[in-house]
Amino acid sequence: MTLEQIKKSFLTDFQTVKDLKSLEFSRIKYLGRKGELSKILRALKDLPLQKRKKIGNQANILRKEIEKLLDEKFQKLQTTNHKPQTTIDVTRPGEKASVGHLNPLMKFEEEVIKIFTSMNFSVVEGPEIENEYYNFDALNIPPDHPAREMWDTFWLKESKNTEKLLLRTHTSPVQIRYMEKYNPPFAIIAPGRVFRHEATDASHEINFDQLEGLMLGKDISLANFKFVVEEFFKKLFGPKIQFRFTPSYFPFVEPGVEVHIKLDNGKWLEVAGAGMVHKKVFEAVKYNPYEWQGFAFGFGLNRLAMIKYKIPDVRLFYSGDLRFIKQF
Ligand code: PHE
Repeated sequence: MTLEQIKKSFLTDFQTVKDLKSLEFSRIKYLGRKGELSKILRALKDLPLQKRKKIGNQANILRKEIEKLLDEKFQKLQTTNHKPQTTIDVTRPGEKASVGHLNPLMKFEEEVIKIFTSMNFSVVEGPEIENEYYNFDALNIPPDHPAREMWDTFWLKESKNTEKLLLRTHTSPVQIRYMEKYNPPFAIIAPGRVFRHEATDASHEINFDQLEGLMLGKDISLANFKFVVEEFFKKLFGPKIQFRFTPSYFPFVEPGVEVHIKLDNGKWLEVAGAGMVHKKVFEAVKYNPYEWQGFAFGFGLNRLAMIKYKIPDVRLFYSGDLRFIKQF
């Protein structure tokens, strides 16, 4: 082949180069030791000086041209070939993003709130850090009252200029705060976290959630309470649920009762304290006890949720254990 022919042949071949393999093939064919150009260069020595110079020059130029084209192509092919495959399989099912959700207790609380609001109760809240007055005194539990022992209390560290503070041991102080601001008749619930300084076990936690309730009017009685409880339980657990009241004592009600629920195993479990609001409580908030009357109640929400979802240990609610939480 003449140089002219080599060039032509190379350019035609070069156009068909689409990958690194065929590129390497061309390189060997034209630049390799046994390639076309080498043949010409090897034959130079037999040529007369003049011709040798001329053809040698031309051959070198051609070699450089071919090298340049091959190198450029090599760079190009190499970068394109190393790009990851970007084909997308649009028929493949999507991967679900994992998002958080409410703790089962909060979910349960929302359900409970819905039932009470459907019976026209309003939802109110109060602070988790309380003072002695709202948590105890105004509820007819003065400092030396033996009933204070019913609520093992977390006291906050005292400093000289502040009053004695505590973590509320029940949601009942919200009753007082509400009555100070508003006049009857009304029906409210106050859900929230409460704290007790006591040993924990499967049915006791140092903090848990209560649902306080208060319904006042001119002639609200325990019979109204019984109806409300019955409605609540039926909506929450279904029509077959059995419950009972037993006499009990809380300083802020008279008479006082406990509400029990019948479990699947036939045993009764206390789920609430309740009663008719005590005269002393009305006096503390400057209501006329001969004009107004009504009931108050406090449900333990964790216990109710435990029954509803068959949760064996109250401590699971706050464990942060995803194996537990993801079941809801
Ligand atoms: N506050 C009481 C408790 O925590 C429950 C209760 C509320 C009882 C309202 C009577 C009336 O034990």
